[in-house]
Amino acid sequence: MADIISEDNALDRAAELIAGGGIVAVPTETVYGLAGDAAYGDAVAAIFEAKGRPRFNPLICHVSGLDMAMRVGDFPELALRLARKFWPGPLTLVVPLKPDAPVHPLVTAGLDTVALRNPRGFVSQLSGRLDRPLAAPSANRSGRITATTADAVAADLGDRIALIVDGGPCAVGLESTIVKVDGDRLMLLRPGGITGEEIAACTGVAPEHAGPGNAIEAPGMMTSHYAPRARLRLDAADVRSGEALLGFGASRAANAGNARAFANLSPAGDLREAAVNLFSYLNMLDKSGADVIAVEPVPGEGLGEAINDRLARAAAPRDSIPGSR
Ligand code: TXA
Ligand code: MG
Repeated sequence: MADIISEDNALDRAAELIAGGGIVAVPTETVYGLAGDAAYGDAVAAIFEAKGRPRFNPLICHVSGLDMAMRVGDFPELALRLARKFWPGPLTLVVPLKPDAPVHPLVTAGLDTVALRNPRGFVSQLSGRLDRPLAAPSANRSGRITATTADAVAADLGDRIALIVDGGPCAVGLESTIVKVDGDRLMLLRPGGITGEEIAACTGVAPEHAGPGNAIEAPGMMTSHYAPRARLRLDAADVRSGEALLGFGASRAANAGNARAFANLSPAGDLREAAVNLFSYLNMLDKSGADVIAVEPVPGEGLGEAINDRLARAAAPRDSIPGSR
């Protein structure tokens, strides 16, 4: 079972665990988060694994302040205004990702935008101490209730993680408001403690609301997610003319030698390694110019469920995904 220690003396131990590639449950003013180094793919894969997430939804990066945030994302004027007014606090800003940002593609699910938040309290200190952005989704198993006390985290995830930092009950108790800033447009992707009215009052711009039938990308909807230019052919047993090949494990599809480009998610057949490589390898094979990427079968257990979910979405006919690009 996980150790539970008070936030008053947890900074050193939490920093050490995260610097070593581990994950730690941490308190924020909204809800508890499950945090790891955003640049380190193995830590991010371990977060998904512990949550048992059926999908690789993009995660929020927690930063120590605006300076660090601006190393990760590009801040249009409206984003600067919102950050200066509401940070630290329960507001997440989705902005364009900087090309050299210290953020692994598994965090952004391969998107060219990133969700950034400067929370109050412990997580800001931890991020500052490490001088790293921390990826952290809510600290609950997928499909379970969001945890707002250390005990709730322990009941849900205590057998899967080593350390829970106890900051008492969360002050807000509800996930952060998420606003996407696209030039001079604002989109409210998730309502939260900071209201649309407050955002409009700060910026002079009324946020557009994301909702069903609206092509704006919204959390939980898969409209925003990475789709390669090439089509994907799943569970491929062979490679056809002109195709690139995304492999998994030790045995190869027939005619693999003819593939226009080849990458192996995990030669050893390790699902965590495959998760870490998924988005960057898809991107790489997409850049080979092939019209089709043949994908060898990936087993469905554990992280394989999320990998297959993402592959299926990337393979779906584009007009079947609302708002897809
Ligand atoms: O209050 C919170 O925000 C908590 C605490 C721990 O900080 N965190 C949290 O994270 O709720 P998570 O991973 O459970 O929710 C992240 C949401 C997802 O619904 C995801 O779709 C959205 O943020 N998101 C992340 N990156 C995005 C992006 N680049 N574009 C659009 N949506 C994004
Ligand atoms: Mg959640």
